[in-house]
Amino acid sequence: QANERESLYLVSEFASSYFQNILHKTNQGKAIGLSYFKERGFTEETIKKFHLGYSLDDWQAFTDEALKKGYKLEYLEKTGLTIVREDKRFDRFKGRVMFPIRSMSGRVLGFGGRILTNDKKAAKYLNSPESDIYHKSKVLYGIFHAKQSIAKEDNCYLVEGYTDVIQFHQRGIKNVVSSSGTALTPDQIRLINRLTKNITVLFDGDAAGIRASLRGIDLILEQGMNVKICTFPEGEDPDSFAKQNTLEELTLYLEEHAQDFIQYKASMLFEASKNDPIKKAETVRDIVNSISKIPDRIKREIYIQECSKIMQISEDVLYSTLAQSSKKDL
Ligand code: CTP
Ligand code: MN
Ligand code: MN
Ligand code: MN
Ligand code: MN
Repeated sequence: QANERESLYLVSEFASSYFQNILHKTNQGKAIGLSYFKERGFTEETIKKFHLGYSLDDWQAFTDEALKKGYKLEYLEKTGLTIVREDKRFDRFKGRVMFPIRSMSGRVLGFGGRILTNDKKAAKYLNSPESDIYHKSKVLYGIFHAKQSIAKEDNCYLVEGYTDVIQFHQRGIKNVVSSSGTALTPDQIRLINRLTKNITVLFDGDAAGIRASLRGIDLILEQGMNVKICTFPEGEDPDSFAKQNTLEELTLYLEEHAQDFIQYKASMLFEASKNDPIKKAETVRDIVNSISKIPDRIKREIYIQECSKIMQISEDVLYSTLAQSSKKDL
């Protein structure tokens, strides 16, 4: 229903400007929200560019204001901004700094809200629930501000979080989007694929996540795109790294450390399994499975040759594994 969706867009747009106002115009917003962003190194200009905001630490300040302005409770509930329990209404977001999530064309679809402490027990980010306008599997944070640069640079940096996107922009790198903590989906990749065939995936420097994320990257290969990987020093993520370095240093780091995905994966798997024949057999199947996703036959052959060298396995074995792997897929 076009009309209902339009109403959800309007409520979300209102919420975005409401949270922005709270951040810039109220004592609580300034003392807590704005100071938080400034401590993270975000400039006034950056904060405005991304429409960052703050939600008051109050049970229904936002909902009351929205109703007063004539927005219908039905739409407040459907966007998840208001939680309705029997006859009671609660704001979903309270006492959080707010990151509006916008579509390719700039419409507000939903929000991520971060707590201000580093309390390990509380969920750090709270996100809008799925709605008729917000499908988290189809959205990339930052795409509205990145689309032109992605096309122009013919490359897209893919990062994990909201603040990674924002800090990169502030440093002057604009071709960057985030899947916002969710596993990458084919729809998200298609959004990028319309703009460039080249993706550079930037992982947080916490090794645990990397192994798990490698699977998702096969989805990028399947769409015929070229993938590079760049990791950051232990404990750093793109945000913290960009904050500590100049644009020149950051650019140089990205150039020097971005590595072809298949080569990266082959080297990593080889290192991890070189003293264990059984594990090595598994990893050969794993890397060949990634190669089998590449639609272009010539590229597949080049990677087979590369991996043969890196993993010290004959090309023949890799080719017959590739044949099996492709058969299994059909
Ligand atoms: N995320 C989430 N819910 C959580 C934790 C993370 O939705 N409880 C998402 C957010 O989109 C976050 C991304 O996953 O930006 C990456 O997570 P993480 O690296 O832990 O957070 P950072 O983006 O580094 O956030 P910060 O620097 O504010 O700690
Ligand atoms: Mn907008
Ligand atoms: Mn992380
Ligand atoms: Mn992070
Ligand atoms: Mn971070």
